[in-house]
Parts: sequence; C-alpha cells; structure tokens
Amino acid sequence: MTNILIIVTGSVAAIKLPILVKKLQQKRPANGNSFQIRIVLTEPSLHFLKLVEVENLLPACSIFRDADEWSKWRQMGDPVLHIELRNWADIGVIAPLDANTMGKISNGICDNLASCIIRAWDMNKQLLFAPAMNVYMWNHPITEKCIKVLKELGYIQIGPISKKLACGDYGMGAMAEVDQIITKIMEFVK
Ligand SMILES: Cc1cc2nc3c(=O)[nH]c(=O)nc-3n(C[C@H](O)[C@H](O)[C@H](O)COP(=O)(O)O)c2cc1C
Repeated sequence: MTNILIIVTGSVAAIKLPILVKKLQQKRPANGNSFQIRIVLTEPSLHFLKLVEVENLLPACSIFRDADEWSKWRQMGDPVLHIELRNWADIGVIAPLDANTMGKISNGICDNLASCIIRAWDMNKQLLFAPAMNVYMWNHPITEKCIKVLKELGYIQIGPISKKLACGDYGMGAMAEVDQIITKIMEFVK
C-alpha cells in the first residue's frame, strides 16, 4: 500500500480534485499494490468543491478539515492530527497550491491543518506542489522568492501552465493538467 496525501488549497483549480482522485484510483504503484488516498482541505478550498462528490470517491474518514484537528484532540496524550497525517503519508501532493499557502509554507507559517502538516513534513519523503493562481499573482516578484525557497527545501514543482484563467485573464498561473500531476506522482512512487 502506498499512502498519498493530497492537500487542497483555495484556488479555483480545487474543482479538479475529484478528477485527480478518480484518475489516481485507476493507477497502481510499481510494486503492484494499490494507493491509499487521504485528502486535507483548507476551508477556502471548500468554496470550489462539491464535498459530496469527493466523499463519493473516498471513505468519509479519508477527508480532513481544520475542525478535525481540534475535535480529535481533547487532552494531553490524544493524537495530534497533523502529526498523524505526516506520519501516514508516503508522499504528499499540494494541488492546487494557492498564493496564500505558498507564502505561508515558504516562511514556516503553520496556522491550519494543511500548513501544520507541511511544517512538520518528513524531509525524507517527497512533497510535490502544483501552484495555481492568477497571472498577476504569479508574475509578482514575491512568487519567485517563495518558489525558490520551496525548491531549496527539495519540494518538487509541477507547473503552472499558461492558459485562459478562470477570471478571464490569459497567462501563466493555471494549475498543471491533472495528467501531468499524475505522471509526476507516478515518477516518485516506488
Ligand atoms: C473566486 C476566488 C477565486 C480564487 N482563486 C484563487 C486562485 O486560483 N489562486 C490563489 O492563489 N488564490 C485564489 N483565491 C484567493 C484564495 O482563496 C485566498 O487567498 C484564501 O485565503 C486562500 O486560503 P488557503 O490558502 O488557506 O486555502 C481566490 C479567491 C476567490 C474569492
């Protein structure tokens, strides 16, 4: 069994999560076993997702939100969800990675479930990220600085690509195609 943790942040590209999960479920790692998938959603990502659609693809216990951190922890000794999930994952994929979470994780900020997992990431495991944002956000010089930090940490960048964006602007910033993300995941899954 290979455990894939998908972290979804608040970009319009979050709408692609169901198709990403569906396609991943059809794949097999090289060892012939199957993938086990868990998903972490930031609260803003939920504006773009039909949660029911995701829940139809995965057991309910495989989808995590900020509230789950705190409902599972009552007292000392209780499991800490972001640590459990970073331990569970064999590989992490942040898709889409929006500008906000990109800024946070490249600066060590951890104020929700997603960024706490990334802050505690096991640096012996691969962490892939697929940026997705408006072309003006992408072209802003701070983006290059954030990406530089993430790459120096050893995280693997996928995309973005250039196309007509959801807001109507044209240019670089759209999340890589789902197939491109899956190809990259398969490269790193032993
Ligand atoms: C309609 C709409 C679309 C958005 N699309 C994007 C996007 O594609 N990329 C991005 O970086 N931010 C986008 N944002 C802004 C993020 O949702 C916002 O920064 C949010 O705080 C991100 O939170 P999170 O990183 O915790 O998910 C969008 C906001 C709105 C209202």
